[in-house]
Amino acid sequence: ELSPIDKAKFVAAKRAADYVEDGMRVGLGTGSTAAWLVRCLGEQVREGGLRFQGVPTSTRTADLAREVGIEVISLDEAKWLDLTIDGADEFDGALNLIKGGGGALLQEKIVATASDQMVVIADIGKEVEHLGAFPLPVEVIPFGWQTTQALVEETLVSMDVLGRQSTLRMNGDRPFVTDEGNHILDLHLQRIGNPRQLSLVINQMPGVVENGLFIDICDAVVIGYGDGRVELRD
Ligand code: A5P
Repeated sequence: ELSPIDKAKFVAAKRAADYVEDGMRVGLGTGSTAAWLVRCLGEQVREGGLRFQGVPTSTRTADLAREVGIEVISLDEAKWLDLTIDGADEFDGALNLIKGGGGALLQEKIVATASDQMVVIADIGKEVEHLGAFPLPVEVIPFGWQTTQALVEETLVSMDVLGRQSTLRMNGDRPFVTDEGNHILDLHLQRIGNPRQLSLVINQMPGVVENGLFIDICDAVVIGYGDGRVELRD
């Protein structure tokens, strides 16, 4: 028996799996909700004869996809994708997102941007009026990361955000390392007034590789509820 939150993630993932058709090339997201999707799709490959190619957004997802029987190809092999299905940490009324709680934002953004369509799967708890309660992940190269952090915090002073603290994401007593060998700064902004502008400004800074704001990338959100209901927002 699933907990309400897992049930919500599961029903959203299961519904979104219907978007995948024979012959498609599909970006596979990262995180606990995306893991449900990968398991659903694996079952359809094994038992329903579904044939598609998956492009994973992390080593974690690649491992799981292979394990459940999905044919995995790289983005360079795929070149262009019909669809990406991924989770999110927050989504707002304009379907803008914060992603990267799982640390895979860089590959996730590259893959989603290379797709004709991005569908997000999320439990209703991820819906927000304004983005920013969830700390915004910013991927930075390890060289001079403290200098980059200082620059980011300094710049936040002039931006339309409530908080401006940032923390280096840790993995035990060591800095967390992404699939690309980078670190992540989590920005505790509380409320982001202008996500588009903030995203542009952050990505201008030397040392910053990418940030977790997904602006105008997501086309639809499949929302799951703890009682098993599913709702589509597009
Ligand atoms: C991974 O880097 C993130 O962008 C995930 O998509 C996000 O953290 C959602 O994860 P859950 O589905 O586990 O909440």
